[in-house]
Amino acid sequence: VPMINPRDFLTQLLYPYDSFTALRTDFGPVSYNERARFWEVFEYDDVLRVASEHETFSSDGSKFAAHPEEFTKGQSILTTDPPRHRQLRSLVSQAFTPRAIASIAPRIAAITHNLLDQVAEQGSMDIIADLSYPLPVIVISELLGVPSEDRARFKRWSDDIVFSEYDDLSSGNLEEYNERVRITVRRTLDELYDYFRVVLAERRLQPRQDLVSELLAAQIEGQSLSEAEILAFCTLLLIAGNITTTNLIGNALLCFDEQPEVMDQLAKSPELLPQAIEEVLRYRSPALLVGRYATREVELHGQTIPTGQMVIGWISSANFDPCAFPQPEVFDITRTPNRHLAFGHGIHFCLGAPLARLEAKIALGILLERFQQIRRKRDQPVETIHSAFILGPKHCPVTFKARQV
Ligand code: HEM
Repeated sequence: VPMINPRDFLTQLLYPYDSFTALRTDFGPVSYNERARFWEVFEYDDVLRVASEHETFSSDGSKFAAHPEEFTKGQSILTTDPPRHRQLRSLVSQAFTPRAIASIAPRIAAITHNLLDQVAEQGSMDIIADLSYPLPVIVISELLGVPSEDRARFKRWSDDIVFSEYDDLSSGNLEEYNERVRITVRRTLDELYDYFRVVLAERRLQPRQDLVSELLAAQIEGQSLSEAEILAFCTLLLIAGNITTTNLIGNALLCFDEQPEVMDQLAKSPELLPQAIEEVLRYRSPALLVGRYATREVELHGQTIPTGQMVIGWISSANFDPCAFPQPEVFDITRTPNRHLAFGHGIHFCLGAPLARLEAKIALGILLERFQQIRRKRDQPVETIHSAFILGPKHCPVTFKARQV
């Protein structure tokens, strides 16, 4: 994970098309970011390569890190290469197939109805605080088997890891800044791990029908997972799976609000929602980048990336590359094909993609079914969250009329 925002103006990414088109034009297909000391790749074909050619672009930062000790806690499928990656992923992939996930659709619908019941009479809500934040946290807590009432704590931990304040970075000292981020991440992981250690101890004594119990029982070639691996996996699910899904739903609202006729069309024809969600994933990708390390010297567009250096593949830039998407600036819910890279590509392709898609489809479907004339409140400008790698609105206050049923 990069420690600093490579381009300061990315902290306010309300219109990612404009920002990323400017970056691609200004910096060319590949550029070295002197300040952040990593390489950046902007075109579709190259981002696809960086994401998926794992022999050349490693996900395991500990192999090349200046501070390898920082990685002892955080190793998970996201940050391992084959063969370990394949083994770890095979343990959990069954739990996240579209078919396995489909069985929780009724539960996702029930949670959504419950959340909307709480705001239906007031005629206004914050899409983030009232719907898109709590929904994925409750769902993943139930899958993992931890109490969803603890979600205020999960939110604080997630925020501490994902959102660092970049505002003071342009004037500040990079080394000091990186040190501050490192301390925050370390402290947060300590707290999270302490929390999950208690859960693991309880499940060891009394296994239940949940993912934590399954991970404890899982064996790879006769060996159980280490406690550190289980802790890293729980942390990854809790953090990676939540903020991104929250932002997918928030970003969908922003996109639909910009084209009210699309919102009306989707209310009338909910079967168009899955395709519309794919276009939201392309147009306002919740995860902006993938990070890798060059395992050998790589030549890209005439530039040489030395062994061990970090390479950032800008998903959002790839998703606006005119070579891959005709008229990339147009938000078009009928776009076919739509081979966006919002969930990455290759062996690290997002494990939670079926779940994220299902949650977004159900939440937005029920929202449009129950409420009409959903309009973002214009009296406050949209503020996007401050993060170098996640995109979405901090708040999304809307007004609506509940439909009579
Ligand atoms: C991997 C995005 C939701 C769990 C990834 C990657 C991306 C991504 C881009 C690839 C990272 C890389 O190649 O380095 C998203 C987006 C989501 C979302 C945009 C929502 C819209 C979820 C959910 C879960 C989840 C709901 C879990 C419940 C994971 C895991 C990985 C991953 C475990 C690592 C897979 C591996 O390394 O093999 N995600 N994600 N994600 N995601 Fe998601």
